[in-house]
Amino acid sequence: MYMAKIIHLAQVDSTQTYLKTHFSQLEDQTIVYADTQTAGRGRFNRQWISQEGGLYFSVLLKPVQTRFSANLTQLMALSVCRAAEKYNVNANIKWPNDVQVNGKKLCGMLSEAVMDKQKIACVIIGVGVNIAQKDLSHVGQPAVSLTQLGAQTDKETFLHDIMQFFWQDYPSVCAAGFTAVRGEYLKRFPFTGKTISVRNGASTLSGKVAEVSAKGTLVLSTAQGQKEVYIGDVIV
Ligand code: BTN
Repeated sequence: MYMAKIIHLAQVDSTQTYLKTHFSQLEDQTIVYADTQTAGRGRFNRQWISQEGGLYFSVLLKPVQTRFSANLTQLMALSVCRAAEKYNVNANIKWPNDVQVNGKKLCGMLSEAVMDKQKIACVIIGVGVNIAQKDLSHVGQPAVSLTQLGAQTDKETFLHDIMQFFWQDYPSVCAAGFTAVRGEYLKRFPFTGKTISVRNGASTLSGKVAEVSAKGTLVLSTAQGQKEVYIGDVIV
C-alpha cells in the first residue's frame, strides 16, 4: 500500500494549477483530485471541460532525476490501461499518452514542469478520466466513459488502481527511463506499421509508424526518411 498524500477538493479551477501554485508547501508525491474543475486545462492550451462524474487529478513529483519526466507521463498512460484492464476494459495508448478504447477517448493527460533558477523544481502530471459523466458531447472527438463500457468502479477506486500501478514502476522509470516499461507500453500501442499524421502547432508530419523508440519518442518513416517525433497530437 503506497502512502502518498491525497487532497480532495469539491471544486477547483484546475488540479494542475492548484499544484503549480502550492507545490513548495506540499510533499513529493502529493495527489490532488477534484469533483469538478472550472478551468480544466488540456494539452496545447485546450480547455478540459470537467463535469461531475469524471476523475480529475494531478500528481506532484519532485524527482531528483528529471531527464525521464516525459516517460513518467507515458507510465501514467500505461497505468490507466492496466487499471482499466482490471474491469475487463481493453484500453490502448495513442502516443504519447492518450488512452482510448476502440478509437474513443477514455482519458487524457497533461504534464508540466515548474522551473526554478533554470532547474526543474517539480513535474506535475494531470489526468482526466471519463468515468461516469452524463454527457461527453463537448469532448470534440469520439469519447467514451468507463460506465458506458460496463466497468463497475467509481472514481476514488479507479484513482487508487491507477496509482498503485504507477508507483509500482515509478522507481524503475526514474532510474532507467522508458526502457523500463517499453514492452508493456507496446502491448497496448496498436499503431506500429500504421500510417498516421502528427500535428504540432501549424506543422503536420505524415508517415508510417516505425517504432516507439527506447526513449519513448515516435519514429516515423516518411518520404524524407526516418523522423523522430518528440511532441505532437497523433491523427489517425
Ligand atoms: C488532454 O487530453 O488534452 C489532457 C487533459 C488533461 C486533463 C486533466 S484533468 C486533471 C488535470 N487538471 C487539469 O486542468 N488538467 C488535467
